[in-house]
Amino acid sequence: MHRPSALLLTLLLLAAACGGGGLDEQAGGPEIFSATCARCHAADLSGGIGPRLGMGAPSSDKPLEYFVQTISRGQGRMPSFDGSLSANQIQRVVEFILVEQGREFTE
Ligand code: HEC
Repeated sequence: MHRPSALLLTLLLLAAACGGGGLDEQAGGPEIFSATCARCHAADLSGGIGPRLGMGAPSSDKPLEYFVQTISRGQGRMPSFDGSLSANQIQRVVEFILVEQGREFTE
């Protein structure tokens, strides 16, 4: 019984260390935003190092693809999140921003 549980613990630790910058793969948009984006865009999306992203922000007329591309490829001083966030996590954080902007995310 000792060996299997030690192995399981090792696997769990490895999984925790590797996954999306410490974020759970199932993490929701708000959680992903506060963990990876808020240091530059502020927890309330009002901006800082990066532009504001909330209601009425310059990006509020941009299509969903613009957000997905900016986040996965990076832009200017913004780093690329391709390697640290999964496609699903990027999708969820984009949906969070669009909802914060008062938009539908299916447009
Ligand atoms: C290291 C700071 C930094 C982090 C972390 C960061 N950003 Fe940015 N972000 C920026 C900067 C700077 C820009 C402006 C880039 C430019 O056009 O030069 C930007 C631009 C953007 C834009 C385009 C805004 C517009 O008005 O066109 C979006 C959308 C965006 N970021 C979303 C995110 C999301 C979502 C995350 C988290 C996954 C994130 N950013 C993390 C710095 C950051």
